[in-house]
Amino acid sequence: MAALVTEWVKVTEDIAIVARESRDVWFHTPIHTKENVDPFAIAMTGTGSTGSTIGLLDGALNLGFSSIEKRGGQPCPTLVAYIVALAGAYHTSVHTPRNLQRAASSFRGSGRPEVADYLEERAREETGHDRLALKDLRALGVPGERLVANFIPEGIRPLCERFDALCVEEYPIGCIGYSYCLERIAALKQKADIDKVQALCPDGVDATRFLRSHSSLGSEADHVEETIAFVASLPAADRIRIVQETYQSALIMAKGYNHELLKSDAELLGELQQALGGALPLRFGSNVATRIARRCDGMGIAG
Ligand SMILES: [Fe+2]
Ligand SMILES: [Fe+2]
Repeated sequence: MAALVTEWVKVTEDIAIVARESRDVWFHTPIHTKENVDPFAIAMTGTGSTGSTIGLLDGALNLGFSSIEKRGGQPCPTLVAYIVALAGAYHTSVHTPRNLQRAASSFRGSGRPEVADYLEERAREETGHDRLALKDLRALGVPGERLVANFIPEGIRPLCERFDALCVEEYPIGCIGYSYCLERIAALKQKADIDKVQALCPDGVDATRFLRSHSSLGSEADHVEETIAFVASLPAADRIRIVQETYQSALIMAKGYNHELLKSDAELLGELQQALGGALPLRFGSNVATRIARRCDGMGIAG
């Protein structure tokens, strides 16, 4: 019987994630003594497996999110925070096809057609997602194009910059780690999360197209599964880089969420109004005040 695959990746100076094909995963702190040779000090070189890949990628996500001090989120969603999140969703998706195509060309040029094919397919699947966010904004009465032209949520900007930078690297394999981070987090969203947002919207208004598509109800769960299978098939050096980037992207994402959560609705409203050059022209005007509940974690949507 073949031995179970064990994979490991050092993500910080003193933490390596170790994962088994059986899906066991743990964080390992290297031991530096003369007597002890740390088995995880040397980069792995073996083949991957689906079970250990899930462990490494989700381990990287968990570690990234737990490294950022969690600030107390407010208890429930608000419409204003949702509008900000939709603007963020637009920005994290508008350049995705272009960026993935760019990364695909690099791999095509360097004799890695399987990576190029994978990225091109993802670029096709992600095309048009920015328009879902714009439609949702429009459904709420917000001039989406005008808003996103003048406004990018502060917590989202570093995430977009990271992706742009990863996709133009000479060897842009890290973009898969970034994409995994966003899609895995999106796929955690359940119907109850969408219902919560729907409850904020006026009756008959469908403003959750983006959220639905970037949740467990949409294509994200499939994207996550496909990515895991693909990553597991890659050489060890690629898997290492992807896991390291999943960790880095999770850090940036967690920091960004915290940043937005610290803002009051009044602050967010001020930012939106400044971007639009006037009052927020919501379709349901004065109802906003009554619909503004309190915010909670997990409002962030990205794709
Ligand atoms: Fe996706
Ligand atoms: Fe997407």
